[in-house]
Amino acid sequence: MTCNSVTEPCVAHRPKSEKLYASACAVIPGGVNSPVRAFHHVGCLPLIVASGKGDLITDVDGNSYIDYVGSWGALILGHAPGPVLSAVTDQLQLGTSYGATAPIEVQFAERLLRHLPHVDKIRFVSSGTEAVMSAVRLAKGFTKRSKIVKFEGNYHGHSDTLMLGPLVLPYNDIPACLEFFRSNPDTAAVVIEPIAGNMGVVPAAPEFLQMLRAETKRIGALLIFDEVISGFRVGLQGAQGLYGIAPDLSCFGKIIGGGFPAAAFGGKKEIMECLAPLGPVFQAGTLSGNPVAMRAGYATLLEIESKGFYEDVQEKTDLLVKPIQDEIARRNLPACLQAVGSMFTLFFGPRRVTKKTQLDEARYQDFFQYLFARGVLFPPCAYEAAFISSAHTKEHLEKTRDLILEYLDDCKV
Ligand SMILES: Cc1ncc(COP(=O)(O)O)c(C=O)c1O
Repeated sequence: MTCNSVTEPCVAHRPKSEKLYASACAVIPGGVNSPVRAFHHVGCLPLIVASGKGDLITDVDGNSYIDYVGSWGALILGHAPGPVLSAVTDQLQLGTSYGATAPIEVQFAERLLRHLPHVDKIRFVSSGTEAVMSAVRLAKGFTKRSKIVKFEGNYHGHSDTLMLGPLVLPYNDIPACLEFFRSNPDTAAVVIEPIAGNMGVVPAAPEFLQMLRAETKRIGALLIFDEVISGFRVGLQGAQGLYGIAPDLSCFGKIIGGGFPAAAFGGKKEIMECLAPLGPVFQAGTLSGNPVAMRAGYATLLEIESKGFYEDVQEKTDLLVKPIQDEIARRNLPACLQAVGSMFTLFFGPRRVTKKTQLDEARYQDFFQYLFARGVLFPPCAYEAAFISSAHTKEHLEKTRDLILEYLDDCKV
């Protein structure tokens, strides 16, 4: 299955980007501050960004792209939304960091908890990595056990705790997990992305999550939902609301920072009160609960709480996603488009993905370059999710849809 559809090399018209990237490489490892930004998976010069507004991101050479990365899912309102800008501007006049509690932290926590019936108390941190790492430490302290389980294809940030420590089980595999829990009743916690976004969008089967809930309860382990992507993305109650499952601890990030570095973890009162200063589990952060980030997150929350917000974003998503799903089905193509709310992945090769699956990365590279050369930015890696924001216009969604349909047609996928 080959495709020669890419006519424009994706490095065209990017002389300033090329120069800046070369300078970046001299002083920053790989020229980037987070690896996937290097575009190594798609064989392109990375994007060197000058600005973002609405659903567009513009590089230093003046090329604009319709953005489906959205800062890796953080920008549910698109780039530079007015309400966030004005909240942040107001805050800047009042100071940028206090290292002490400010009213906005309390207001934001109270407002978040309204949507999270399984979270009695929440603590703010600065990144998703920190949120999950801290939740796991808390789980170990609470249970006085050390064994942590995660799932193949899930990503929980780059802490040693989550990258090197845990035992890894297959996602959506009930028999394998039942077997594991039978022989490992001393497990401290099970961490899962209930809607995985890091092996492409792969939702857990409801019965899989129900089994995890029942088994962790049975053995006295904690169930930790990593909702850094799915939280406030698939609805105000996240995946836990969608599935009707009560985790013991939950982690949030991305959207709750409103485009700034904020994340959080929270859960049942008796567990959260094991944290310092009330309990023995130490956890801290110089910029935790930073007032600028809190104001940005709060302003975002007010927007996404507005009536019809998620319905509107769903409608936008359907406009792009449904015709592609229909076309794949109609022509019985070896591909599938999986979506939950406004997060989605177009997989090349498999017709359904329920676990970590080796994808056709060469095909994805070709697809990425096809779109990129035509002014559309998709995630620069086959395993990353794409996101739609409330700022995506009908015109841009239709343009993207038509390009993808054209790609499926031209390339005889
Ligand atoms: C599910 C999940 N958890 C945790 C993280 C880590 O978050 P951060 O990059 O903010 O440290 C990510 C990042 O993409 C994520 O997708």
